[in-house]
Amino acid sequence: MEFIYDGTNQQVPEVVFVFSGDNVFSHLPKRKYNEKQQVTWLYHEQVASQKIIISLGEKSALTMEEIRRAAGNVARSLKEHETTAVQVTLERLYSVLNEPHEVIQAWIEGTMLGGYAFDCFQSEKSKILVEQYYIIGDPIENVEAVIKDTLNKTKSICIARDLANLPANHLTPQIFVKKITSLFETTKVEVNVVEGDEIDKQQLVGLRHVGQGGKHAPAMVELTFRPNKNKPHIALVGKGITFDMGGMSLKNARDLSDARFDMGGAAAVIGTLHYLATTEKDVNVSAFIMIAENVPDANAYLPSTVIEYPNGISVEVANTDAEGRLVLADGLIRSAQVEPDEVINICTLTGSVGIALGMDMAGTWSTGDIAKSLQDIGNENGDFVWEMPLVYDYKRYLKSDYADLHNIGSVHEGGATVAALFLESFAPKSIPWAHIDMAATIQSREERGYLVKGATGYGVRLLSDYILTK
Ligand code: BES
Ligand code: ZN
Ligand code: ZN
Repeated sequence: MEFIYDGTNQQVPEVVFVFSGDNVFSHLPKRKYNEKQQVTWLYHEQVASQKIIISLGEKSALTMEEIRRAAGNVARSLKEHETTAVQVTLERLYSVLNEPHEVIQAWIEGTMLGGYAFDCFQSEKSKILVEQYYIIGDPIENVEAVIKDTLNKTKSICIARDLANLPANHLTPQIFVKKITSLFETTKVEVNVVEGDEIDKQQLVGLRHVGQGGKHAPAMVELTFRPNKNKPHIALVGKGITFDMGGMSLKNARDLSDARFDMGGAAAVIGTLHYLATTEKDVNVSAFIMIAENVPDANAYLPSTVIEYPNGISVEVANTDAEGRLVLADGLIRSAQVEPDEVINICTLTGSVGIALGMDMAGTWSTGDIAKSLQDIGNENGDFVWEMPLVYDYKRYLKSDYADLHNIGSVHEGGATVAALFLESFAPKSIPWAHIDMAATIQSREERGYLVKGATGYGVRLLSDYILTK
């Protein structure tokens, strides 16, 4: 599939925008204009004369996110119709938003993400998504570079989606490590895998305990991409639990297939580095991916276990299902050794964050102002995130009777904030730190805009754009 920026109208079907109150197709019922994100086909015996109408709602309320969503909805409709070539004129949107480059970027992003399908295990493959997508308009400076960069970005987001969608038997910790290694083989990202005895030697005690019940051994993968060491050095830590059965504190539910998404934070970090490296961005990033499976077994770690971390903190494991914070603690301790200017961890950490914020945004907590910047960036790029308070008083809920910390809170309320406070205890001292809990945004349960059922690729845009502000 290719996007072609061109000045002349093509003899192919055309995507047309309408705003509420427009009167371009007077024979269409009014509701078609007023219902936001509605796709309507105007068929014609000449295929090239077909119009695909997409309603954008009130012109005054238009945002980049609406454009991304519209593009996604149109993309799936084009697939259903097996359209091979299509054209769209975005100029009308440039004049509303005054940002031609961003409008083009939003349209391409929405198209590629909305047209994504995870069909490698299905006999009936998803239909092709358009071969030539013409964007018609007057010449714009650097448009080719914008198109190329956006396609790279959506590719990296789709890599994160693919990884997260993979089921337990196709993404064991070892397969995960192999996939990461081969993904970065042709890039300037250095990959270092810590596994086997090295896990104990490097005192990755959380990872060792969480992973010891699994048939597949745990690992930590370090990714380094530091083309410009003069830029602020950002350390990322990602939770990569390939399957979260809860361990001995077994989860119970009818269908636990979603437990495969528990490496969504790791996928976000991998997608971010992939994008930054394949587009040769001038950044300074180190990343730590904490990989294990959390399953019950005779060798599995038991509730009551005390884990003694090398920073001197001991943790009573009251519930083996609160495993994410145990492996992230290792990653946070390890991150201090590379002396970063900031540390950000991202993870599918708690069910509570979804109770607090719903499915459309992640939660973020930080020391300093990282969380605020993340929220602003998410508002622009669609990886929505809301700043939550680090209520230090709630640390009392993490008290243990016989260790320094309990790995779960003693009360049910505020579970996402209590988890954040647990992590904060392990964050490198006096280095700004942020935590992103994307447990609710890792997956979409519906086809909507540029989201399809399954992994969302959440976090790639958020982390990339954040790092690019540095
Ligand atoms: N991976 C889960 C969190 C999760 C829940 C992600 C739902 C996506 C959807 C995490 O390891 C977990 O099990 N957390 C527990 C913590 C509890 C035992 C304190 C939770 O949130 O229920
Ligand atoms: Zn768990
Ligand atoms: Zn988990």
